[in-house]
Amino acid sequence: MSYAEEYARSIATPDAFWQEKAEALPWFKAPRTILSKDDNGIHRWFSDGEMNTSYMALDHHIKAGRGEQKAIIFDSPVTGTKTTYTYLALRDEVALFAGVLQQQGVVKGDRVVIYMPMIPQAIIAMLAVARLGAIHSVVFGGFASHELAVRIEDAQPKVIVTASCGIEVAKTIAYKPLVEEAISLSSFKPEACIVYQREQLHATLGDTDVDWDEAMAVAEPVACTAVLATDPLYILYTSGTTGKPKGVVRDNGGHAVALKYSMSAVYDMKPSDVFWAASDVGWVVGHSYIVYGPLLQGCTTVVYEGKPVRTPDAGAFWRMVEEYKIKTLFAAPTAFRAIRKEDPDANLIEQYDISSLNTIFMAGERLDPPTYLWTVEKTGKPVVDHWWQTETGWAICANLTGIESRPTKPGSSTLPVPGFNVQVLDPMGNTLPPGEQGAIAIKLPMPPGCLPTIWGDFDRFTQSYLKAYPNYYTSGDGGFKDEEGYVFIMGRTDDVINVAGHRLSTGEMEEVVAAHPMVAECSVIGVHDSLKGQIPVGLVLLKDGAQISEEELQKALIGMVRKEIGPIACFQRAVIVPRLPKTRSGKILRKLLRQIADNHEVAVPSTIDDPASVPEIQSIMKQQGLVKSDR
Ligand code: COA
Ligand code: AMP
Repeated sequence: MSYAEEYARSIATPDAFWQEKAEALPWFKAPRTILSKDDNGIHRWFSDGEMNTSYMALDHHIKAGRGEQKAIIFDSPVTGTKTTYTYLALRDEVALFAGVLQQQGVVKGDRVVIYMPMIPQAIIAMLAVARLGAIHSVVFGGFASHELAVRIEDAQPKVIVTASCGIEVAKTIAYKPLVEEAISLSSFKPEACIVYQREQLHATLGDTDVDWDEAMAVAEPVACTAVLATDPLYILYTSGTTGKPKGVVRDNGGHAVALKYSMSAVYDMKPSDVFWAASDVGWVVGHSYIVYGPLLQGCTTVVYEGKPVRTPDAGAFWRMVEEYKIKTLFAAPTAFRAIRKEDPDANLIEQYDISSLNTIFMAGERLDPPTYLWTVEKTGKPVVDHWWQTETGWAICANLTGIESRPTKPGSSTLPVPGFNVQVLDPMGNTLPPGEQGAIAIKLPMPPGCLPTIWGDFDRFTQSYLKAYPNYYTSGDGGFKDEEGYVFIMGRTDDVINVAGHRLSTGEMEEVVAAHPMVAECSVIGVHDSLKGQIPVGLVLLKDGAQISEEELQKALIGMVRKEIGPIACFQRAVIVPRLPKTRSGKILRKLLRQIADNHEVAVPSTIDDPASVPEIQSIMKQQGLVKSDR
């Protein structure tokens, strides 16, 4: 079947298309209702189907006789550890840990927060929660206590699962004190905290803490609880434009169907092939393609605790490919920029046999053409840029290597994936002709796997995604299509930025910066960075009479953002400005500041109060090297 035929069928007859894809999975009760609407009027998939995601990802393969096949390869250069789990071993650990959670009172529908480094226990915890029909919410380890507290407050977990520490290259980061601080900051208190003790650092346990190993030693394995396809599997918080992150809800059935389909259609993976998504389980890429996608497809997934560079060098990826015969490698462009920076001539690639590698996939941020071209040239492998978001859980645009590989175009994430009716709209909601840039929106219904709501805040869901254009989901990204329908994503149209493939909210950073006693007003914008794609910079207006040097202020603000949001925010620069451009109603013109940073020709809008401030800010930003120079 050609891509064009597959895509056309998915849009013309979505029911028949997705029913067929759902048949590839072992349901407890196969769905008869394929597409329907819920009480909120939102499209839902497979609403009467019964299943369990953990069963589909583990037990099913064992029943099919593949229990001895490797499910997980764990490689941790930062601790010098390498381990593997067969499907049988992984299922047994998961069933036992589900027993531990059950002993703590976790039942179907309860939330469990998981705050862990990249170790197999993080995946065991996720699958154990799913086994019970409970809902996990994984929080990335690079977020500080305050961020963890916000998520605890919102998700109200019965239990938290953590580890004693994470390892960041040569630094050991104690997790338990961060969890304790988060619990003390949150008005909601979980009943227990299960701690996996790592030998690099032991945590001191308190009254409500449970030692992972001790609990596992006395636990009984538990069977899978049947859930409805529409029951939530997880909540994953992602940055929005305000300080409060959005709890993206993922259901069980649509998610399983979409991911299983994507493993063959997008990634061309067969059972027992080795798949490596070099991400972290704290991000959506980790959820979908370290854990669920590869396991639902019966592949071997790779769990890597390390960086693309410095662990020990920029040959880390290629060493992994050779050692584990990896067929598909998926990482953020920033990882390849980091490798290129340290090994520009790719001398390290030549030291390894990477012949097992079929394709390199990249996502998480815009793949800039120089990085794309370097990777293609130096590896000799096809490189596929694919565009997606936490909200969708899988690719919206990609080159469908498992159906029909199309020629790629640098700067484009190729064509819409079956199920996604991608349109480029003008502000009135009209479809724009090829070449014209507008808002990228997806005509409803969205395919299986996409979010049905935001946890506990349906209004915010409709407000954020469905209000701007009736009958469309608004992605928050801008871009265009060319004459052949290829999609080019150019960047966010809101105040979300992408730092080293990590999605962050400038609004959230502004709240932190504005809390400094000498700051009158501020705006945080993303400026171009040759390694991380974008980095945040604070433009700060001081209160009248405030006496502080820029250096001193910057130091204080860096500390505040690190403490409140975490090191992952990469907030390193703050610049004092004499004024900020504003509208007549007093709103800071962030879009204008973003345009200046992107070095667009900025026309001074007539609504601005003080037109003189624009050239002034422009020249400060030029002086500070904050404008993009490689255009
Ligand atoms: N726990 C605690 N701290 C963490 C962390 C974690 N899980 N992950 C990152 N951090 C810290 C880092 O130690 C660093 O702290 P520092 O300021 O004290 O040095 C800070 O957060 C910034 O980290 P990062 O942006 O990762 O920078 P880096 O210089 O350590 O590494 C790259 C740069 C490009 C190698 C790295 O960002 C990378 O591999 N990116 C890929 C991103 C990715 O996989 N995204 C997922 C979407 S596909
Ligand atoms: P996240 O939800 O963290 O996965 O971030 C999603 C956002 O990252 C998208 O809305 C885009 O802005 C950006 N993004 C992800 N993949 C791509 C890509 N292939 N090209 C351009 N931008 C991307």
